[in-house]
Amino acid sequence: MEVEELFLASLGRGSLNSVEEYEKKARELLSNRLTNYIFRGTESEGTLERNLKAFSTYALRRRVFQAIEKVDTRASFFDGRIRSSLPFFPGCINVSPMYPKALLDILKVSQTFETPIFISHLSIEPPLHISKLPSLVPDSSPLIWQIYLRKGEEELCLKQAKLAKSWGYRAITLTVDVEMSVKLKNGTPNDLSSIEFISVAPKHVKRLRQATQLPFIIKGVMTHEDAELAIELGADGIIISNHGGRTLDQGQATLEVLPEIVRYLKSKKMTRSAEIFFDGGIRRGTDILKALALGAKGCLIGRPIFWALAVSRNHGPSDVLRILKDELERAATLCGVTSTSNVNQSILRKAE
Ligand SMILES: Cc1cc2nc3c(=O)[nH]c(=O)nc-3n(C[C@H](O)[C@H](O)[C@H](O)COP(=O)(O)O)c2cc1C
Repeated sequence: MEVEELFLASLGRGSLNSVEEYEKKARELLSNRLTNYIFRGTESEGTLERNLKAFSTYALRRRVFQAIEKVDTRASFFDGRIRSSLPFFPGCINVSPMYPKALLDILKVSQTFETPIFISHLSIEPPLHISKLPSLVPDSSPLIWQIYLRKGEEELCLKQAKLAKSWGYRAITLTVDVEMSVKLKNGTPNDLSSIEFISVAPKHVKRLRQATQLPFIIKGVMTHEDAELAIELGADGIIISNHGGRTLDQGQATLEVLPEIVRYLKSKKMTRSAEIFFDGGIRRGTDILKALALGAKGCLIGRPIFWALAVSRNHGPSDVLRILKDELERAATLCGVTSTSNVNQSILRKAE
């Protein structure tokens, strides 16, 4: 039996066929503390809910007579400096509260898929060291280091950013939307309450930009004004994200703001070539197809990776990516899409 089959058989309840099933199984397996950490959104959880619901406001248009045998799912970013066999990949998530070295289990997706992997700096706890991680994965799985600016550590962070390229990182992401005073489902989060973050201002972005020649991505942008500013400050790309509904409550869904930001950036010479990544609420291959059709070039997977780790540390993350890949390829085929890198809005209709 293949390793994957053995893993699925070991679940004892038949195979898991969807991210939804992973979510359900994870709920059964996780402690209350981890369930709260992973599942919750801010206060009323209105933003989190809206992220999920936004996908059903678009319907896909079924095409026939296309005779598509294979969908090309490859993606290329930053003039080919980062290539991927899939237009989606593990996103910036702090998995360290789950169990020691959980990050290493995410890196195992590199044994199955050639995709970038975002590494949350908060996931890197001793004995793991930031400088050593790129040597643990093949070149075909470029690591993108995601940082937060923490109070008292800005100089250290700049020093590390200067070294990131020599350590083997292929891009740097700065998350700008963190807010630790929020209440997750009305309760204050405990896991990170000791960390103090800098409220990011343009001067911080500029300093970091100057510290590295690697592609530089700003994560946490939700308006066209901020998207433009991020690129003006030197970013090569943005991640449209509301932190999975964990910062501002009753905010807009990421899918809701995606078309507007894409339109705006594409309309100006200075911002036209910026790479646009997307996250928030992706649970199915059809969600990825819709985000790509609306102009995202790459999608980041968040909570489903936690659920995957909860179910199987060894195989969960790659199995979740496999499920999403199957669903994406099937939906693309049925919509007459031969390559996910040039899909556009013609496959969608607004469905209120
Ligand atoms: C438990 C948890 C931990 C997270 N940790 C980080 C992090 O360390 N850095 C970061 O930039 N974003 C972090 N995020 C936000 C994710 O990168 C992403 O924006 C969000 O999970 C997307 O929403 P979704 O998981 O509902 O799809 C975290 C999200 C969750 C749920």
